[in-house]
Amino acid sequence: MTDLRILLATPEAGYEQRVRQAFRGMLNGDLRRWDGHLGAVTPDAVLGQLGDVQPDVVAIGPGLELDSALELAKRLEQDRPEISVLLITETTPTLWEQALRAGVRDVLAPDAVDADVRSAFDRALAVAEGRRRMLAPPPMEARGRIITVLSPKGGSGKTTLSTNLAVGLAMAQPGRVVIVDLDLQFGDVSSALRVTPESSIVDAVRTPGPLDVMTLKTLLTPHASSLWALCGPESPAEGEAVSAEQAKDVVEALAGEFDYVIVDTCAGITEHTLSVLEVSSDLVLMCAMDVLSVRSLRKEVDALEQLGMTQQKRHFVINRADSKVGLDIKDVEATVGLPVDVAVSSSRAVPLSMNQGSPVVESDPRSAVARQFTNLVNQFTDQPQRAGLSLLRRGGR
Ligand SMILES: Nc1ncnc2c1ncn2[C@@H]1O[C@H](COP(=O)(O)OP(=O)(O)O)[C@@H](O)[C@H]1O
Ligand SMILES: [Mg+2]
Repeated sequence: MTDLRILLATPEAGYEQRVRQAFRGMLNGDLRRWDGHLGAVTPDAVLGQLGDVQPDVVAIGPGLELDSALELAKRLEQDRPEISVLLITETTPTLWEQALRAGVRDVLAPDAVDADVRSAFDRALAVAEGRRRMLAPPPMEARGRIITVLSPKGGSGKTTLSTNLAVGLAMAQPGRVVIVDLDLQFGDVSSALRVTPESSIVDAVRTPGPLDVMTLKTLLTPHASSLWALCGPESPAEGEAVSAEQAKDVVEALAGEFDYVIVDTCAGITEHTLSVLEVSSDLVLMCAMDVLSVRSLRKEVDALEQLGMTQQKRHFVINRADSKVGLDIKDVEATVGLPVDVAVSSSRAVPLSMNQGSPVVESDPRSAVARQFTNLVNQFTDQPQRAGLSLLRRGGR
């Protein structure tokens, strides 16, 4: 890695050596010193020198006038807020206030011992990482679609649909799809895919500090269809370790790495589901073909409206649509207030395929039910994402 991580703005060549020594070769990236041609470290000169280079930390001093050091800190804070600024100078009683006002992150004495140098730089690097994440979300094109599957009732076929959708998409784009089991109490994505996870979403939030995508990827379980799964916890109690905010962070981090993130949820609207919905591009609403399910879904749609969850592109799937219960699709559409995108029929092939761990789109692709699921898959591979969403994402961050 040759990314510039630390820029030392100081005329003192010896200081570079001190910092290198404090890191003992453990700095992941580059460190450079810039002396501004014998002491002339002015804000314009430093900003000009930085150009397109993106150091995480700029350390100002030692060997600079305090006023010009603070002036430089102020300009960096204004023009390059993603950079975290350290001031290397002797501390005086009034310095801290001045430094904080200038946007300095930390003040370090020029003669600090190695351990203090190292920890001050480490803290500044961590802050920069957080700031960069906040200030510069990856562009929309670089983010995958987050598709959350929702239904007011248990047993309506959410897991069946999520796993079929995920496997169907993975067949079209191998390795680019991940399914997340957000049913933190009784999630059964791993059973439906018949995989034995070694890690779960709980492990993703156990590690302290900011979420690290590389670690997150090691917690995924592969399925034979080239799909990845972030499985649910082993017990409902374990699931309590995951907060709604963490669930959202996990899903967002995965969207930075995968083209599609499918989120299977538990029944109803929970805090976790709402949190993940905030960052979802698509919402698949589903219900079974009976009056109670349909009415509940209508209430759920109303509740989502009231909560302002209207920006996601909606897809409406009715499951067991061929049930002879005196309802027809038109009644359902009128009650729910949404057109039905896909009607999935009842089929013995569904539970059979679940027992095999190979959703019907894969195990029995010619069956009517598999073709219906595939129609839903095609809605995602064919349609471009709705433009309005980028506004939601940007506004929501
Ligand atoms: N279209 C269908 N035909 C037959 N069985 C189905 C169908 N959809 C779902 N099922 C069965 O219904 C049960 C509940 O489905 P599941 O996907 O686990 O619901 P949820 O996740 O909403 O609780 C499962 O045993 C599943 O195999
Ligand atoms: Mg389920």
